[in-house]
Amino acid sequence: MQNTTKMAKKEIATDITKLVRKNILDMKPYSSARDEFKGEAEIFLDANENPFPSHYNRYPDPLQWRVKEKLAEIKKVKPEEIFLGNGSDEAIDLIIRAFCEPYRDSILITDPTYGMYAVCSELNAVPIIKVELTKDFDLDLDTLFSALTTDTKIIFLCSPNNPTGNLLSPTKILNVLDQFKGIVVIDEAYIDFAKTESFVQLLTAYPNLIVLQTFSKAWGLAGLRLGMAFASKEFIQILNKIKYPYNVNIQTQEIALKTLQDCKKKEEAVIEIIRERIKLASDLSQLALTEHIYPSDANFLLVKVKDAPGTYRYLMDRKIIVRDRSKVTLCKNCIRITVGTPQENRNLIIALQKI
Ligand SMILES: Cc1ncc(COP(=O)(O)O)c(C=O)c1O
Repeated sequence: MQNTTKMAKKEIATDITKLVRKNILDMKPYSSARDEFKGEAEIFLDANENPFPSHYNRYPDPLQWRVKEKLAEIKKVKPEEIFLGNGSDEAIDLIIRAFCEPYRDSILITDPTYGMYAVCSELNAVPIIKVELTKDFDLDLDTLFSALTTDTKIIFLCSPNNPTGNLLSPTKILNVLDQFKGIVVIDEAYIDFAKTESFVQLLTAYPNLIVLQTFSKAWGLAGLRLGMAFASKEFIQILNKIKYPYNVNIQTQEIALKTLQDCKKKEEAVIEIIRERIKLASDLSQLALTEHIYPSDANFLLVKVKDAPGTYRYLMDRKIIVRDRSKVTLCKNCIRITVGTPQENRNLIIALQKI
């Protein structure tokens, strides 16, 4: 396996420019005077801002270096190996846009999985190949490899997967990384709730790897809109080249930095959410309507019930919103329930007991 990895590394390292769309490779990105000036300036008359001081009269740092330096320490990567965007949804869109030629290059996704890969793909006129997961929601490698075409540029793997909640087998993911010559994106939005390590540490071994994470789940900052992509410096440069110049605002950068300086709150929240997830699964299993609770490595549970659309509407009438996933592949009669506070989970169970 080491040999294969070495070979792949060499091949892909020389090929990165071939993976990028030609117009993007050739284009000149937007540049500001602040990109060109290095050092501590005193007077800023370059960006047509309002000069009278308020907290927000200046544009933010376009490359968010202070946040990246702190994040790099925590994730044990280099700041240049991090992209920050308006949620990881921005990174998903930019990755597809940067590497897939519309109407020609395809992406491969698993079915079921997170909906935005398909949305961004359709938005960018990029064909989608869907490969059904196995009955226990793992990768079916034979089907996956035989579905690839010479125009498949990106494979999206979501682990833990949304909406199923489980981790994909790490050995199978490694197999994909070893064999696929295009880009493998591993979306780890829920990794903090999982019992395995992140793939971020494998960036050096696999130059074709991009790992996505987010501040929206364990970090408790969904409203802030901040997502992360970790990849080789070369990949990150491409994403930075095509993003909007000031895609992460000043307030988001400040709050993210402050949050990263003390990870304790997030770690405590993760422990509490996992504890509640176990309790919620146990309480749900006592209910007559529950047919199956799928194992979860995320902050939600996929639950098979007798009548998912009916249960969904019943809860909605009682002002409790869950997600009806019954039309999703392999998820017939399933609802997806996010783990709430202890009180919210109790209220949910009380409501369900009355069905
Ligand atoms: C798997 C997965 N990836 C990405 C996202 C989007 O995250 P963000 O809020 O960072 O855009 C979600 C949101 O639910 C998700 O489930």
